[in-house]
Amino acid sequence: MSQANGKILLTLPRSKQLRPLIPLILANLPGASLRLAVSGSGEDFTRKTDDLLASIPTDQRSRVECVECDLTNFAQVKAAVAGATVVIHNGPGMHPLESEMGLNAVTASSEPGSSVKHFIFCSVIHPLRVKMTNHAAKLPVEERLIESGLGYTILRPTHVMQNLNLKAILETHKISIPYDPTILHGFVDLSDLQEVIMSVLQNPEKHNRATYELVGTNGSYDDAVVGAFATVTGDKFEVQKVAADDEKLKAMGMATPYQREACRRMLFYYTFRGLPGNSNVLRMLLGREPTDWVAFLQRELPKVSK
Ligand SMILES: NC(=O)c1ccc[n+]([C@@H]2O[C@H](COP(=O)([O-])OP(=O)(O)OC[C@H]3O[C@@H](n4cnc5c(N)ncnc54)[C@H](OP(=O)(O)O)[C@@H]3O)[C@@H](O)[C@H]2O)c1
Repeated sequence: MSQANGKILLTLPRSKQLRPLIPLILANLPGASLRLAVSGSGEDFTRKTDDLLASIPTDQRSRVECVECDLTNFAQVKAAVAGATVVIHNGPGMHPLESEMGLNAVTASSEPGSSVKHFIFCSVIHPLRVKMTNHAAKLPVEERLIESGLGYTILRPTHVMQNLNLKAILETHKISIPYDPTILHGFVDLSDLQEVIMSVLQNPEKHNRATYELVGTNGSYDDAVVGAFATVTGDKFEVQKVAADDEKLKAMGMATPYQREACRRMLFYYTFRGLPGNSNVLRMLLGREPTDWVAFLQRELPKVSK
């Protein structure tokens, strides 16, 4: 059985990065089935599973299985991995046990008897920038994966364009950023990232033992991003730096003190260094220019202004 025809396990199926992959896999890999490792138990698990299945056409649901999986629990991770030929792992970025979750996924996939042939790790650009805990947490996972004997591909995307709340920006004409908006930053469109993941799934051998830094475009919010909004809409937009206080961080989903501290460290780091990189690798993988801000907004703004 080819890997693209086997069972593909997604470990963070509700995340920004992996959720949009579900329909792409179902549409483009007709021989594949999906196992979604859903966090939570009881009613929480049911709510998340219902939410995931609701977005899958009824005639495709028999190809999708949701399993309860606490990624910190090795036995549950092992059960989720059983029978899978490909694992796509993404860890929850501001979680104190993010490394352990990734190590569990790699270890379970590489144990004797495992059917996993290829492991795709969605890491982050420059995990060696260890001053950010959500970058540092990915280094040991990359190391364990490279040493595991598994076929693997490591993807290192920079900051994704989809982090912006386009609806709020269109309503207020303000782009609120909790760090210095003049800093040079790198951005990547999630659709480009998903196109790369699909290429890896379609031809894992070709991408075996590769580590790809994925940057679509570099620029700052107060120049490239605000300029792209003006170009696409013909309107004037303003960028404002907002405080990363507890209320703001809670609104960003940082529920625990650990998450808020990790997020503050990241935002402090962004203020001085940003996350720029080079787009050559993404251009090569896509075989075209990566999506820039103007193309991204031309595609996405009509969806939110309906
Ligand atoms: N966003 C970016 O710009 C970006 C760029 C590069 C790399 N990354 C990395 O990509 C990863 C995901 O980021 P994202 O922005 O895509 O995340 P996201 O959309 O905010 O999703 C976070 C996910 O983490 C899950 N989660 C939280 N706690 C969990 C736990 N204890 N066990 C299992 N799952 C848990 C949540 O699952 P439920 O919904 O089921 O609760 C949610 O789906 C992070 O490691 C981040 O560092 C992000």
